Amino acid sequence: MSAQAIQVDGVSKRYGARWALVRTSLQINAGESVMLTGHNGSGKTTLLRLMAGLTAPSVGALRVFDRDVVRERQAARTAVALLSHQSGHYDDLSAAENLRLHAALLGRDTQAIDELLARVRLRERADTPVRQFSAGMKKRLSLARVMLKRPKIVLLDEPFGELDPEGMADVETWIAEERKAGTTIVLATHWIDQGRRLSDREVRLTNGRLV
Ligand SMILES: Nc1ncnc2c1ncn2[C@@H]1O[C@H](COP(=O)(O)OP(=O)(O)OP(=O)(O)O)[C@@H](O)[C@H]1O
Ligand SMILES: [Mg+2]
Repeated sequence: MSAQAIQVDGVSKRYGARWALVRTSLQINAGESVMLTGHNGSGKTTLLRLMAGLTAPSVGALRVFDRDVVRERQAARTAVALLSHQSGHYDDLSAAENLRLHAALLGRDTQAIDELLARVRLRERADTPVRQFSAGMKKRLSLARVMLKRPKIVLLDEPFGELDPEGMADVETWIAEERKAGTTIVLATHWIDQGRRLSDREVRLTNGRLV
């Protein structure tokens, strides 16, 4: 396995007439924690989605642990989990059911689910359908899903958004633990102080370009 967790080689991404990302190259070592900053619309989410294999580059290539995220998408995606605004939960299922389903799909033990729900402070709401959840509760459930996957690479798209102060502190604690455990982290955030505490270096995007 390569010491390089993520390689972004000359990647550009176009949406219609708009270039969201322009000739971006970036290498992230295994175990590194990188903060991604930039103004609204600078391309952070686009870059994270490309790294997660959720969208393909218009130009250039990305590799995750030496697997091409387009041509070896499945292999690349097993190493990665993305925490984002789009929850991807099944609204008609409860929090516990969502996690059980996710565990089954990942071939994971379902026994840890109670513990996970407690960890994100959702145990009292375990049986509530997700459509009745608040934004912060959905974010907490998304976090539990990432925790369940235990990926080698964690991509965090504004993990502090929507959370109350206690939730923010929980996320910060969890990221610090992951960092200590050697997980590779890419953290896109507008919360600069938290981000700096949790990362080894900062990468900034301006109008789709790395600066
Ligand atoms: N699905 C899409 N279709 C069309 N344009 C898009 C799409 N997703 C993003 N864009 C455009 O790409 C550019 C970068 O957006 P992106 O979401 O990556 O920014 P961001 O840095 O994550 O911003 P924010 O800080 O607001 O989250 C923006 O100009 C946006 O309008
Ligand atoms: Mg974004």
